[in-house]
Amino acid sequence: MTATTFAASASHSSQFQSRIRNRTACVGIIGLGYVGLPLALLFSEQRFPVTGFDIDPRKIDLLSKGETYICRIPTTEIQLARDRGFQATSDYSQLADMDAIIICVPTPIDEHREPDLSYITKTLESVAPHLQPGQLVVLESTTYPGTTEEVMVPMLEARNQRGLKVDRGLENEDEVFYVAFSPEREDPGNNTVARRDIPKVVGGVSHDATELACSLYGSIFNRTVPVSGPATAEMTKLLENIYRCVNIAMVNELKLLCLRMGIDIWEVIEAATTKPFGFHPFYPGPGLGGHCIPVDPFYLSWKAKEWDFNTRFIELAGEINSSMPYHVVESIGSALNRREKTLRGASVLILGVSYKKDIDDLREAPALTIIELLRQEGAHVSYNDPYFPTIGRGRKYDLKMNSAPLDNLWQYDCVVIITDHSDYDYTRIVSESRLVVDTRNATRGLVSSNIVRC
Ligand SMILES: NC(=O)c1ccc[n+]([C@@H]2O[C@H](COP(=O)([O-])OP(=O)(O)OC[C@H]3O[C@@H](n4cnc5c(N)ncnc54)[C@H](O)[C@@H]3O)[C@@H](O)[C@H]2O)c1
Repeated sequence: MTATTFAASASHSSQFQSRIRNRTACVGIIGLGYVGLPLALLFSEQRFPVTGFDIDPRKIDLLSKGETYICRIPTTEIQLARDRGFQATSDYSQLADMDAIIICVPTPIDEHREPDLSYITKTLESVAPHLQPGQLVVLESTTYPGTTEEVMVPMLEARNQRGLKVDRGLENEDEVFYVAFSPEREDPGNNTVARRDIPKVVGGVSHDATELACSLYGSIFNRTVPVSGPATAEMTKLLENIYRCVNIAMVNELKLLCLRMGIDIWEVIEAATTKPFGFHPFYPGPGLGGHCIPVDPFYLSWKAKEWDFNTRFIELAGEINSSMPYHVVESIGSALNRREKTLRGASVLILGVSYKKDIDDLREAPALTIIELLRQEGAHVSYNDPYFPTIGRGRKYDLKMNSAPLDNLWQYDCVVIITDHSDYDYTRIVSESRLVVDTRNATRGLVSSNIVRC
């Protein structure tokens, strides 16, 4: 049975609830990236019929062949899901058969650090014509408070072909769809917390929407956290990411001071972490990366302007964090200088380009900015990363490079640790290199005059 075959007279939401309980509710996930694909697999694991939607034909093709394109998701998981009926398609008309539609498309910022909602609006344009009474539409993409109510609901109401309205608790059940926002909280590369143990915050436009979304997510997550509405759920996600962004900026600034004072910031953080209350450690690095922490806070600062409000912590944190790649390049320059070499003409090997250790994600990675800055200074730059045999065109840079083998390290004037992948043998790297600039404290415990920590 599909969403369209609901008995018109019966309560859509109570039928939906029972379909969730007996795992016959059809779940459609739009955007099969780092967030959407694992989510689709979680629903599939719980025996829901799942259909994934994406505009990228390569992804649809790979999934249809039972193959993967995300390192940490093995092919076996895709094949198991396919055996349980998981399919991927770019045919939006199949949305009409879904009970729940969950949107996980990108929300980047543009070159002026302003929100780019185009992926969401294009998705909504494709969803609206297929909208059915009683369907639940959930937005998971990180965005500013107000997006669900001010952008998503009006577009779905204006563009659906049946004159359906969002449920606000007063309408006739046959003429409504349900809408909620529920932020994704994944921490890529973190294997200590199982996905289902991460509580799921849910804010529906109406009480019924929250209940439906909580029931649906409650079947794959151990705990759901209902909040009073979508804006609260949207703001919750931003608070979490701004908290990280601001604390990382603070510790990056303190690192710069500690370097000047000859104090080891890493030792300080380790000591402070022994306090059993009131302190949570954050670590300095070569700059922020990933789709979330460098991007999401600016969604809020942009929205705040509408309220004549300056989000000063966000601006300051952004300023400090985005200066870190410049600090790394300066440190490489002065380390070479102390060896009577110049950055111009130096051969530099960058170790690790993904934005975080042990993951295959290059988005907003500070290594890319550092490579670009080093090239501008006239250095000959190579890189090695087990997760990226090549780097091509990205959002900002078109670097066109191949990963260099990790042998003959002596040929480089400087080896720079940008991403501290676990697979690297740091003892060997230090012993075989002329100069190692370490931005991550990956060489902790090693003593050598070749190491410069920055
Ligand atoms: N990656 C993370 O760790 C993470 C964590 C929390 C929240 N988020 C948020 O989740 C959202 C998605 O992030 P992601 O990392 O999965 O992005 P992603 O780029 O990995 O995946 C997005 C997918 O959406 C597809 N897509 C784009 N437009 C589409 C359309 N109109 N119709 C169908 N598919 C479309 C793309 O082809 C891509 O496969 C973002 O808002 C992000 O901020 C990401």
